[in-house]
Amino acid sequence: MAENIVGLKRSYRCAEVSEELVGRELTLMGWCHKQRDLGAVIFIGLRDRSGEIQLIVDDNSPEDVKAKASRVRSEYVIAAKGILQLRSAPNPDMETGTLELSVQELRIVSESLTPPFYIEPQVEARESLRLKHRYLDLRRPDMQANFMLRHRLTSLTHSYFDEQGFLEVETPILGRSTPEGARDYLVPSRVHPGNFFALPQSPQLYKQLLMVAGFDRYVQIAKCFRDEDLRADRQPEFTQVDLEMSFVDADDVMEVVEGYMARIFQEILGETLTLPLQRMPYTEAMERFGSDKPDLRFDLELQDLTEFAKDIDFVVFKNAISDGGIVNGIVVPGGGEMSRKQIDSLADYVKTWDLKGLPWLVPDEKKTRGSVTKFFSPEKVQELMNLTGAEYGDLIVMGADRWDRVKAGLGQLRCELARRLNLVDGKAHKLLWVTEFPLLEYDEEDERYVSMHHPFTMPLDEDVDLLMTEPEKVRAKAYDIIMDGTELGGGSIRIHDQALQQQMFERLGFSEEAAWANFGFLLEAFKYGVPPHGGLAIGLDRLVMLLAQTSSIRDVIAFPKVQNSSCLMTQAPNAVSPEQLRELCLQVTTKVEAPTLDEDESEEA
Ligand code: AMO
Ligand code: AMP
Repeated sequence: MAENIVGLKRSYRCAEVSEELVGRELTLMGWCHKQRDLGAVIFIGLRDRSGEIQLIVDDNSPEDVKAKASRVRSEYVIAAKGILQLRSAPNPDMETGTLELSVQELRIVSESLTPPFYIEPQVEARESLRLKHRYLDLRRPDMQANFMLRHRLTSLTHSYFDEQGFLEVETPILGRSTPEGARDYLVPSRVHPGNFFALPQSPQLYKQLLMVAGFDRYVQIAKCFRDEDLRADRQPEFTQVDLEMSFVDADDVMEVVEGYMARIFQEILGETLTLPLQRMPYTEAMERFGSDKPDLRFDLELQDLTEFAKDIDFVVFKNAISDGGIVNGIVVPGGGEMSRKQIDSLADYVKTWDLKGLPWLVPDEKKTRGSVTKFFSPEKVQELMNLTGAEYGDLIVMGADRWDRVKAGLGQLRCELARRLNLVDGKAHKLLWVTEFPLLEYDEEDERYVSMHHPFTMPLDEDVDLLMTEPEKVRAKAYDIIMDGTELGGGSIRIHDQALQQQMFERLGFSEEAAWANFGFLLEAFKYGVPPHGGLAIGLDRLVMLLAQTSSIRDVIAFPKVQNSSCLMTQAPNAVSPEQLRELCLQVTTKVEAPTLDEDESEEA
């Protein structure tokens, strides 16, 4: 029979006791981390979210306490009343290592099965097992630390934006399905059979309407839902710090966000963030780093070798250039130290990014090594070294193909090289803005232009005239904030001019009817006085993930989904009863078995 805690009142959390309390009678409650029964003495490590303290049961404790203490096992919940005393053998590895509670009264409040994995900071259990028993996984100190950090961050977020004059407004979860963007999660309406709500991919349209309403500065810690393929930094439901401001241009939005990031760095990391943050146009980011979210914690820049390569009699270069492609290279300082096998495995790596090969050279005073030495005379090797700044013993890897493939392939290789060569200082962070994104991108499948961000993004003033003539050249008033090579947030200045918005829809191939059918409520609102406005949303989960320095977004979400978008603990999504379906006038035509608990689908994409 479990005992209750009637008549006992917890005095402190386990690790909140201190030496000033020695000699006092205290009541502590928590989980048994470990019980060690040495016969004459029984030690129990008592744990709660603050940490751990040692309980000691010996000749100073009553007989019934001794009997009970010998029954206590890992993860039992117990309540102990006793006198706090100094330990005869302090443990320097424990925060409360000089203290122990000499137990006078003990209650076993709840027993526990042997947990399927140890409740320790370092965990070796499979992630699927951890997620199945998430409540145990969350009991581990390093997970608790992640959620304490997340709490501090949300609490700081409320106060920072409050100080900046923002209003927190909640927007609906049941909304309207609109085209563009990712796939929606749909919710069938019982009252209107055959009609569906969509869960918001973001509060984008609502926050713009709040600007029309005169709210001026809006912020919300908002849940967003997107039915897309998951990755290490993506979840189907995630949280944004979503904001929108009136009477502003891009610089004003960026300034508020920079202030927010500086506050986070100060309060969470104890570091001063140098402002303003670096800004880099999209084209420069792609040219130099092969990515619109460049990781600037290390060098290894992409260098353009197209002109140089024109004189090299290597068919791969020749074909790439004659097909309108490019040749780029990366110099890896001291990379000549790598074994042949290691270099070959880099070539295998770029193949996963659609590059067919990775020609390489290691210039050497005596004999240059590489996979393409026969095409490079000693003079050409020297010329390549002068051009790229490479020195003897460096590795030069090259990509020759279509622009997008070379950039993506070498951009990814750059990050992979940094991982393999350990070039990133684990504690360092690097933030920057990427700006001047293309407004539109051509969708080969749909044979039309689609918005790179969303259809309400304002073109750069100087590019507006190109919208109908050279749409691919139009740059957007859009900005992404990048942290350590991850897209942390993105936003833009919105179109507040009806005629321009109309033109934009035309450009995207929406007829006037289609635009009204989908976004009528917004277009209607825009007839009633619209302030110029813009905003941004930061991925809160990603931010916590980067600050906590974990490699998976699942480590900072209490109850995350796995790769196949299911929850291993609750087994959602699940089949529903025929009555529920009937009520919604829904019929299921294909049924796939619901995910099972044993499935290990948590591998990274
Ligand atoms: P965007 O779609 O760029 O912009 O999203 C903003 C930020 O949200 C985070 N994010 C995600 N985090 C986890 N899992 C996901 N599936 C996921 N998708 C996005 C990213 C991203 O930078 N309404 C616009 C913002 C605006 O224009 O104001 C928007 O949602 O960190
Ligand atoms: P090979 O002539 O097959 O020995 O290749 C010489 C070098 O060129 C190797 O490093 C290959 O990785 C690279 N290479 C071969 N074919 C291609 C290709 N189609 N595109 C890019 N690199 C290539």
